[in-house]
Amino acid sequence: MNKCWLYFVLLFAIVSCGERLDVSSPNGDLCLQFSLSDAGEPTYRLSKGGAAVLAESRMGLVTSEVDLSSGFALLSTEHSRYDETWETVWGEERFIRDHHNQLLVHLQHSSGQRMDIAFRLFDDGFAFRYVLVGSADSLVVMQEATEYRFVEDPQVWSIPWRTEYYEALWTKDFQNKEQRAKSKDLQPPSLNSSLDQAIWTMDTVCSPITLEWGDGKYGFLHEAALIDYPAQNFFVQDGAFRTYLTPWSNGVAAYLPAGTFSTPWRMLILTDNLPDLVASRIMLNLNAPCAIENTDWIQPMKFIGIWWGMHLKTMTWWNGPIHGATTERMKQYIDFAAENGIQGVLAEGWNEGWQSWDGPDPSARFSFVTPYSDYDIDYLSEYARSKGVQIIMHHETGGEAGQYERGLDEAFAYMQRYGMHAVKTGYVAPTITTIDGKQPNRSQSGVRHYRKVVETAAKYQVAIDNHEPVMPTGWQRTYPNLMTQEGIRGQEWNAWATDGGSPAEHTTVLPFTRMLAGPADYTPGVFGFDNPVHPDTRVHATIANQLALFVVMYSPLQMACDLPEYYAQHPEAFAFIRRVPCDWERSVLLDGAIGDYVVMARQERGAEDWFIGAITDENAREVEIDLAFLPKGEWQATIYCDTPESHWRENPTAIQVIEKVVDNSDKLVISLAECGGGAVFLSKM
Ligand code: NOJ
Repeated sequence: MNKCWLYFVLLFAIVSCGERLDVSSPNGDLCLQFSLSDAGEPTYRLSKGGAAVLAESRMGLVTSEVDLSSGFALLSTEHSRYDETWETVWGEERFIRDHHNQLLVHLQHSSGQRMDIAFRLFDDGFAFRYVLVGSADSLVVMQEATEYRFVEDPQVWSIPWRTEYYEALWTKDFQNKEQRAKSKDLQPPSLNSSLDQAIWTMDTVCSPITLEWGDGKYGFLHEAALIDYPAQNFFVQDGAFRTYLTPWSNGVAAYLPAGTFSTPWRMLILTDNLPDLVASRIMLNLNAPCAIENTDWIQPMKFIGIWWGMHLKTMTWWNGPIHGATTERMKQYIDFAAENGIQGVLAEGWNEGWQSWDGPDPSARFSFVTPYSDYDIDYLSEYARSKGVQIIMHHETGGEAGQYERGLDEAFAYMQRYGMHAVKTGYVAPTITTIDGKQPNRSQSGVRHYRKVVETAAKYQVAIDNHEPVMPTGWQRTYPNLMTQEGIRGQEWNAWATDGGSPAEHTTVLPFTRMLAGPADYTPGVFGFDNPVHPDTRVHATIANQLALFVVMYSPLQMACDLPEYYAQHPEAFAFIRRVPCDWERSVLLDGAIGDYVVMARQERGAEDWFIGAITDENAREVEIDLAFLPKGEWQATIYCDTPESHWRENPTAIQVIEKVVDNSDKLVISLAECGGGAVFLSKM
């Protein structure tokens, strides 16, 4: 069955034309006012509940031919209303309502260029985009004039611009000197324009950013539908947040084709509490509906893999004496997956080329059709099939995007031959954060590449787990075969980071920052806590915390990262990983505070069962979980939680499993140790 069919509850679009320049959200809470200054500069303001949120803020683009941030005249406006509910192929939620009012402003520039600005007002935020209409020639965009002039300064959770592959600890301090220093160690791809020069000397941060006002109000500033355009970043100048587009190495931001071109949506979620922030689906609504006719082959799944051993340096990717991906080991992993209801097994280091990675031959090139001699792909594919397990392919490109594109059809056809439907791609380049040694992976060049991979993969019925990606912007609505991405400081840092590993606070920040941009391949599930690489680097967590992450950190391809032998040593705790799904009917943030703790509840898709994940930072705490969200009736609660002896460093594997019968008038009280957690399985009796 094609799950992409829209599920219409109510859909209406009433269009009215005229010159009205304001628009409000369906519930009237958010109001936006567009205006043109005397110099023809497009600007907008926004209020919420009658109070100004954004003061007059500039808009527009600067191209090498013409300045499209002033010199406009108003032609006309159109207003429309929209209300539709659609079904996701997979997700945190099955049905999503797209309810918004739109204002479309038609402008004419003094150069003759036509430009529209489309504004969409939702109850929980707004978005706009520029549409360059019927350009006679191609345009070269140098930068955007887009700004956000907040009336009240928010505190900002961010990571610095040029963070390698977005893999950093988020901080609340835009002025964080340590981060600024770190980001300046990296060389920018070019310093051609004066804006580039300026950016380099300023605090500039990646999109997205999460905004926090002291009175319980939150915001999330990001973009949606980033297609054939550079990823945005933000810096503050003259009191406004301004957009900085990641340029090509020659300083150009974007090459736009002649004809009509729509930029990505600039999006701001605004809510009065954290649960609503986490529940906002504006970004997905701003992306086009599913473009894949038959989506049956796109299957959310948990997987294990020959992977963690390489990060712990007890195995290698290349085929030497401690090669990870051997036929024998893969067979064992397939057996383990089959015995434990884990649907997939990833094998990294299965193919020729890794000698250049950590092996003896720096000149070796990756091949995606040549297995190592000690990895029998024919036998293993057949064996996996006989066990009902899927092998997940791995394509580490070393950042050679051009070469990868040239061999893409061959690589995906090879997967098709072996019945493989999912691949983890990677772009760890010798020149940091660039592809093909030159272009930033977040430039238009990189964005084009990632899109091409996703679209080509769809033709071969291949789902993608994109490591070293561009920050997600909701493509998965259109291409649900883009299932998960990295772009996060994931678990692997706890194997080899020289800074001791991520503090426990990290996973209590991510659900309110990076995770709002889409699923992430964080890879939860460490059960073996000794670290052979750096004994002082470790997972700042208890085993119960690692279980809770399966609920807290959403990914429809969810990796249980540790070695099967560790899972086998803790069958009681592993039972939760065996049972927890990774595709959801509904998701609700029950409680939390950014950087302190998170309590997330999710209902299994197509079933009645609920799962809860609770995690804390370096502080032990008690969480009281109100079960009022559960439907009526009795529920069997299986609670996996820390013991009084649990301690992330001294005793991380101590865990207790408590059984209880509860109903929706109950409150569950769970004690979380320092860096601890609790995972709950609620089964309808
Ligand atoms: C970095 C990825 O994040 C990691 O998961 C992978 O194992 C290595 N690259 C090798 O591809």
